[in-house]
Amino acid sequence: MLKLLASDDIVSLQTRNQITPLPIGRLAEFAERLEIRAELMPGSKPFSLVKLQQAERVMIAITTPDNLDVFAWKELGGLISRSIARGHFYFDAREFSPIELRPLMVGLLGGSYKYKGFKAKSNEEEAFSLEFIANQSQVDELAELIERVSVVTEFHNFSRDLANTPANKLNPDDMAVLAQERCAPLGLQVDVWKEDRLASERCGALMSVGQGSATPPRLVRIRYGTGNVQLSLVGKGITFDTGGLSLKPADSMLGMKYDMTGAAVALGAILAIAKLKLPITVEAILCLAENMPGPNATRPGDVITSRNGLTIEVTNTDAEGRLVLADGIDVALEANPEHLIDIATLTGAATVALGSRYAGLFGTGQTPDAFLAAASQSGERFWRMPLAEDSKKLLESSVADLMNAKVGSRAGGMLVGAQFIAEFASPNKTQNWVHLDIANVASNDGAPYEENPAGPTGYSLRSIVQLAENLAATA
Ligand code: BES
Ligand code: ZN
Ligand code: ZN
Repeated sequence: MLKLLASDDIVSLQTRNQITPLPIGRLAEFAERLEIRAELMPGSKPFSLVKLQQAERVMIAITTPDNLDVFAWKELGGLISRSIARGHFYFDAREFSPIELRPLMVGLLGGSYKYKGFKAKSNEEEAFSLEFIANQSQVDELAELIERVSVVTEFHNFSRDLANTPANKLNPDDMAVLAQERCAPLGLQVDVWKEDRLASERCGALMSVGQGSATPPRLVRIRYGTGNVQLSLVGKGITFDTGGLSLKPADSMLGMKYDMTGAAVALGAILAIAKLKLPITVEAILCLAENMPGPNATRPGDVITSRNGLTIEVTNTDAEGRLVLADGIDVALEANPEHLIDIATLTGAATVALGSRYAGLFGTGQTPDAFLAAASQSGERFWRMPLAEDSKKLLESSVADLMNAKVGSRAGGMLVGAQFIAEFASPNKTQNWVHLDIANVASNDGAPYEENPAGPTGYSLRSIVQLAENLAATA
């Protein structure tokens, strides 16, 4: 919990070159004379945290280089949240600007996320709390900042919780029901399309992905605000991806409960935007299905008809994300949105191309630049990739309008996936559209960094909310 205190005499957590001139050895020696215990805390470069303790009183002195960027401020916040388990601290914010304090708060709040899980014995850890010490002139601005970061973090963590939830506890219907429950108190309009409606709406691609599962697919359409849709979010929501009949090997299947991260992010983002009461109209479409190899599963070679009328030869049932998105995007386009964003854990090839820090971004029109600007404000890394004409040729089918995956070649896998989606989202390259392939960043499999502990990151939610804020400000 972050609280704000307008006072100028309590300082328990200090920062910026407080003790730089004093090497840690000297500091310890100096502290000892005053009966203060000094201890260097585990941390990461370029920061060092020294814990000074005198009886019950603790002060953490942090040395930092000057001019930290948004990533470094988030890293510092995350580092503090990981270093301090419990207790009440004060942060002297008087020297700092909102541009610096916001990412610090993101790291502090987001970095202390922990999934509760299903352990019989829950070890409820006491959390640490932090108060900011501010000048009177900062108070209003800081209070608003804390409120905003807290709201975004609440829904960011909600998205992470959804991603963490095992697939036996979260099937497409569960997720649709949860969306309804969360949207109701905020007054959002929600439509859930079940089997009958999906059939009457001709969502052939989404239904083909879900038909091998005992738990049927759903499409959830959520609307915030009135008037023309300015921002439309379409999320891939595969609650579990076995690969279908093109079955994944056991090792690759393990993390596939996370394959609904795109839908979780779309849902969390629209909830955050609504809670912040941003003056903008947003729609979120959740494309929910479980990709299983049941008796009625789609076979490799089957031809299906997507909602916009294009026929698709399903050459690989493991390339299911692009199929559910094809129908979801078609639904989104009906509202003629000013900006369209799809979010998906789409390809393993994203990791091959970009590693695990930069998510893949594709798009046409104005949205890519607008999104990248928002992402640099929120401190999430995206790297723009090309919609390559040759990818389009690779998807030509002899029996249908296109196929969903190239057979026998893994070259440029992330680009081919994006090109498939482009055929539905922006076939004439005229739609303001962004495709985010977050397969490589949706789960942090390495050491904690910035606001991300190990596990689901809820990546891109903060940038989407920032974009909504920017669009609201310029409308
Ligand atoms: N859900 C996977 C992508 C994925 C892989 C996400 C690893 C997170 C971690 C997706 O549905 C998939 O399996 N894609 C295939 C596409 C291929 C068959 C064209 C892939 O990446 O191998
Ligand atoms: Zn798949
Ligand atoms: Zn998938």
